[in-house]
Amino acid sequence: MDVGIDRLGFYTPKKYIDIVELAEARDVDPNKFTIGIGQSKQAVPDVYQDAVTMAAEAADKVLDDDNRNDIGLVIVGTESSVDESKATSAFLMDLLDLPEDVRAFEIKEACYGATAGLQMAYNFVAMNPDKKALVIASDIARYGIKTPGEVTQGAGAVSMIVSQNPHILKLDNKSVYMSRNVGDFWRPTFSKTAFARGKYSNEIYVEFFTTLWKRFQEKYDMTAEDFDTMLFHIPYTKMGMKALRTLDGQIPAAHYDKLVEHYQKSIEFSRNVGNLYTGSLYLGLISYLVNGNVQPDEKLMLFSYGSGAVGEIYSAEVVAGFDKYLDSEFIKEELNNRQKISVPDYETIFSEELENAGITKLEDVHDKFYLSEIKESERLYKKVN
Ligand code: HMG
Repeated sequence: MDVGIDRLGFYTPKKYIDIVELAEARDVDPNKFTIGIGQSKQAVPDVYQDAVTMAAEAADKVLDDDNRNDIGLVIVGTESSVDESKATSAFLMDLLDLPEDVRAFEIKEACYGATAGLQMAYNFVAMNPDKKALVIASDIARYGIKTPGEVTQGAGAVSMIVSQNPHILKLDNKSVYMSRNVGDFWRPTFSKTAFARGKYSNEIYVEFFTTLWKRFQEKYDMTAEDFDTMLFHIPYTKMGMKALRTLDGQIPAAHYDKLVEHYQKSIEFSRNVGNLYTGSLYLGLISYLVNGNVQPDEKLMLFSYGSGAVGEIYSAEVVAGFDKYLDSEFIKEELNNRQKISVPDYETIFSEELENAGITKLEDVHDKFYLSEIKESERLYKKVN
């Protein structure tokens, strides 16, 4: 029985800043940000948005009357959750009219959370073929104003419905993974912004990739030529390229050039959104499926990396006719119809938050799901009807 991704949805906030304007405001050569880091635009979440509202937005795009009642598992991968106790998935139950006979919980391991969720969903559906799983990656990447990480911020969510006989991507149960206690990136519970040893984090990312890629080839007796495309976790678009470059000179040049060409298609959306943390790899998948010249039955390698750190390489196969199940035009339209805001306006939004006893004014809301108020320190959410 084939199990994999049946539907894929994506949401990013409607506001963004231009990276050249950010560079100018920070007195940095814009080429450093656009070429050295590889970003063009950065999503800016509004004050009424968080991991819950973005997860709801993304999931709303893939749920319908046909699949909603088949869902038996809901997993949200996030490292920007709003509560130390209550899972993001609990807030989604009524926002998304989900059936009560589901296991709904949250997974945290930096940018690896959604991959852990996807692998659990695979096992769940393999054991319960009549059921489906909803896996959501939702995060706000925040490093702080004027920090080296500022250019690598971003926000958004990706949703996936995992089922038997999937219409988008078949997972083939080939996977290698590793975990190690690493101090490359962390966010203590008192802090809204992350701390990173930036250059060290880049080194660990590449080391995890090279180690896992060697193990994958040994375990399955496969090489890079068995894959048409390699997708990477994309904290900024140059990062995956640093990993891919380790294959330059190690594999036939024509195949390396093809992998680079496909990689360029996979980063188009991230370049215009920024880091989604745990959703980044899956935004890369969406970007490749929407923008690439994807052949039916194409073989993909996916590299997931979460600081702290866990890495995993797994493989998958594109399902012929996947394009009928992915609303490419809608995704492109949503990205094109966002509003550019100035760097000072972004700095203002960055410093604002809804206080306890605060209420969001409906006229300020430009999305379907929003944080409506905080009452007795409890966050309450609503859907615009
Ligand atoms: P930095 O120190 O500002 O930048 O930090 P830099 O000096 O390293 O320069 C960056 C690149 O720009 C370099 O290229 C420069 O040569 C180039 P590279 O050597 O890397 O190829 N450059 C220029 N290019 C063209 N024209 C110019 C110019 N000037 C310089 N004029 C850093 C960069 C990414 C470290 C920083 O932004 C940061 O700390 N970001 C956050 C951490 C991060 O994203 N790490 C990635 C790996 S860890 C990961 O992926 C997990 C994560 O997603 C978290 C999670 O798992 O939850 C982060």
